Amino acid sequence: MKYASYLSIVAGAIALSAVIPAASAAPVNFEIAFNQTDTHPQFKALQMFADGLKARTNGEYTAEVFPNELLGAQKETVEMVQTGTLAMSVAAASLLESWNPDFSVFNLPYLFNSIDEQKKVLNNPEIVGDLYKSVSDQGVVVLGSFTAGARSVYLKDRFVKTPADLAGEKIRVMQSDTNVQMLKYMGGVGIAMGQGEVYTAIQTGVLDGGENNEIVYSSLKHVEVAPYYSYTRHLMIPDYLVMNVDLFNGLPDDIKTIVKEELAKAFDFEFDAFAADAAKARADAEKAGGKFSEDVDMDAFRAAVKPLVDSKLTTDVTKTIYQKIEALR
Ligand code: GCU
Repeated sequence: MKYASYLSIVAGAIALSAVIPAASAAPVNFEIAFNQTDTHPQFKALQMFADGLKARTNGEYTAEVFPNELLGAQKETVEMVQTGTLAMSVAAASLLESWNPDFSVFNLPYLFNSIDEQKKVLNNPEIVGDLYKSVSDQGVVVLGSFTAGARSVYLKDRFVKTPADLAGEKIRVMQSDTNVQMLKYMGGVGIAMGQGEVYTAIQTGVLDGGENNEIVYSSLKHVEVAPYYSYTRHLMIPDYLVMNVDLFNGLPDDIKTIVKEELAKAFDFEFDAFAADAAKARADAEKAGGKFSEDVDMDAFRAAVKPLVDSKLTTDVTKTIYQKIEALR
């Protein structure tokens, strides 16, 4: 190393140590449950958050992400966060509606048209601030949202063009009443279960197919058992990052600020990375034998689910959020 560059590193280190407190004897590690693989853009984003947290707290606070449902399926890991046996989990938005029905506003079909629209809303405190704090009395705070792209239907033996094509088809949905009802309005039969059981359920005929974004479709190999993916794009449901509320409230203010700032960067990164990763996942699925159809009558599906949307917008909170989303379009 040249003498000059060595000197600048030493100078930098001195400047940094002046603003960062020395590491305490007992570092705090946040364990984060994640139900997708370590190639998913949310995993990369959480890893970025972990790196930023460690660097800015001089190793006093760290985070560790456990992918592949290693700590359990989402429904279970969210409950672990609630009881305080786990610090954080990624949770599909559907799961929180049983805690506060107002969350169902983000589980509605055809709510957003693009990831950019979602981005303007989901981490905007003016729109979501109160909702995200509303589950504090149940032990959890929503720290923010990732995008999960758009979900479409896939079947084992054919494409879907209109709601009539889903008649009698048993499709896996996430564990929420809104999602079960949605599939019924779309013409099929919604069967709620955790994501990890879907492959075998399709393989054994318990299900005829599923609905998800291209990344999950490809990385969890659902393409092998249900190769017909039809672009219904019926749901753009976010994934929340939830944290145990006592753990969050107990953090010193400067650490809270670092957590929020590093997460904001991570969420932004993921929103920007998702589309390219989804396109790559589609190409991978095609190589594995998957077939994709754009020949879908989205207007027919949108009309079919309209009564569900109307029936869920019943409280002031859901109506206000919905209006704000419409105003931003
Ligand atoms: C999406 C979402 C996950 C969710 C999964 C599912 O991929 O990002 O959070 O678990 O769908 O269908 O269960």
